[in-house]
Amino acid sequence: MNIKIRSEQIKDYRRIAEINALAFEGEYVGEVTMVDSLRHGTMFDQELSLVAEVEGKVMGHVLFYPFDMYLNGKITKTVCLGPIAVDPEFQKSGVGGNLIEEGHKILKEKGYKLSFLFGHPSYYPRFGYIMNMFGKSNIKFEIDNMKQIEMASDEIKERTVKPSDLKELMGIWENWYGDIDLAIRPGEGLMDWISHTSDIKASVFLKSQEIIGFVRYNKNNLNDIRMFIAKNKEATMEILKYLKNSTSMKSIELPVHPDSTAINFFEDLEYMVDLQTWDAGMIKILDENDKDVEIYCREVQEGIRKAGLIVYPPSYDMA
Ligand SMILES: CC(C)(COP(=O)(O)OP(=O)(O)OC[C@H]1O[C@@H](n2cnc3c(N)ncnc32)[C@H](O)[C@@H]1OP(=O)(O)O)[C@@H](O)C(=O)NCCC(=O)NCCS
Repeated sequence: MNIKIRSEQIKDYRRIAEINALAFEGEYVGEVTMVDSLRHGTMFDQELSLVAEVEGKVMGHVLFYPFDMYLNGKITKTVCLGPIAVDPEFQKSGVGGNLIEEGHKILKEKGYKLSFLFGHPSYYPRFGYIMNMFGKSNIKFEIDNMKQIEMASDEIKERTVKPSDLKELMGIWENWYGDIDLAIRPGEGLMDWISHTSDIKASVFLKSQEIIGFVRYNKNNLNDIRMFIAKNKEATMEILKYLKNSTSMKSIELPVHPDSTAINFFEDLEYMVDLQTWDAGMIKILDENDKDVEIYCREVQEGIRKAGLIVYPPSYDMA
């Protein structure tokens, strides 16, 4: 079987959507819109969105999306593998494997240091992906009857994000996530901050016209907060109070790493840390000479270093 791997072109979009719909089969195929949303991202590189042609017809697609990721306090060129899909009629005949391996070659030429993904533990390790490299890092605490939260000001407003907010939000983000391994730096476009799914709300919080924070959350479930950043401790309590009052939730979980300086904003609350790695959270080292990536993977595997925190950007949101 002759499999040819090449970059996607606009004429392939419809077939790529069809393959994702067929491969991920379901009533709602989030991967179709996910691919479109990623194409609108500021870091999108068409040469990393690959199709596999079998006898001249597109039968598979993989998207590697580039990010600047913090590792050891330095920005590392990284990509996220996904989604990947092969027409069910052509699965298990090497199409997926060819897409991944050809992708890795291109990534190495372009100077990427690591590729990460969330996927099947029985598939990706054969391509060099190491399991249990990341998972979740949440802090959990009661928000009901919590004095520090009750005492916070009510004078804050929630509104949608505007392009003119992004510079300021990046500054708040740096304070919150910038000192954590695997933190993905959000892009500087509006679509890097807001979700394409109807359940996930992305909001800026303001006090006297001043931006004090940003939250991307499932409006039906406060235990599903995708990103939470606030300017300081006071702003953190104010936003928590706002969220508490707008739902009937009694407890809350936030994606915060225990080593982040932002953890200090919660020092008065009795929180529990839920830090886990998952088999499905995998990393592949693309540059064997990059000591930071090699050391991170080895130390997390040996259990002498805490796994970092990957906060997936909104393009990966599923309803
Ligand atoms: C996963 C997928 C992209 C692999 O592509 P493919 O062309 O079928 O894969 P290859 O032919 O290169 O490799 C086939 C091998 O992958 C394994 N494999 C395929 N899908 C798998 C899955 N969902 N979980 C675990 N292993 C899987 C096959 O069992 C086969 O293993 P073997 O070589 O030991 O027999 C394809 O099966 C697919 O589109 N699946 C549905 C969408 C999906 O799940 N995407 C990945 C989300 S993480």
